[in-house]
Amino acid sequence: MSLIIVRKATMKTEGDLETIVDFQQKMAKETEDLHLEREKLLLGVKSLLEGEKSGSYYLAVQDEKIIGCTLVLDEWSDWRNATVWWIHSVYIIPEARRLGVFSTIYSYLKHQVEERKDLAGLRLYVDKRNTKAQRVYEKLGMSQEHYELFEWLKD
Ligand SMILES: CC(C)(COP(=O)(O)OP(=O)(O)OC[C@H]1O[C@@H](n2cnc3c(N)ncnc32)[C@H](O)[C@@H]1OP(=O)(O)O)[C@@H](O)C(=O)NCCC(=O)NCCS
Repeated sequence: MSLIIVRKATMKTEGDLETIVDFQQKMAKETEDLHLEREKLLLGVKSLLEGEKSGSYYLAVQDEKIIGCTLVLDEWSDWRNATVWWIHSVYIIPEARRLGVFSTIYSYLKHQVEERKDLAGLRLYVDKRNTKAQRVYEKLGMSQEHYELFEWLKD
């Protein structure tokens, strides 16, 4: 298996925007049986890539092909006086699964957190029905002992 590179997505790199939109539609369908409206999603992804909203997509690339992505958003922790990175929108293409692609992205992010004083840790939430992903996060050493997630969404 050839090398997997992790890099930030940009508006300037051809294909990044389209690939992220495509991956997010596939991820929502696969994990929550949800159809995401393309136009709305495109604007949502663009806001991040253009820097209008804060957050970064990280892409896993192999032989110049994008095979996975995740979005990282900041949460300020007053208790820690540091930022917690929230991992969102994780998607690895089906043919590249169970080959360590997400592990590579995760290690990359974890290394940044370990190296930087302004970062406190990594968090994510996962659909209760997505037991596969839950097993992956457990295997990587994340724990779900600490918090329950509550939410209220307008639509
Ligand atoms: C969940 C997902 C991100 C995992 O990515 P991946 O690149 O296949 O994961 P990795 O190959 O890095 O596996 C990491 C560890 O989890 C294990 N693992 C991976 N898939 C697994 C599965 N389906 N069941 C049990 N364990 C699994 C691997 O064996 C590995 O452990 P090891 O290092 O001890 O061998 C990927 O399957 C995916 O994109 N799924 C669809 C979208 C999704 O569910 N996103 C998450 C939303 S929160």
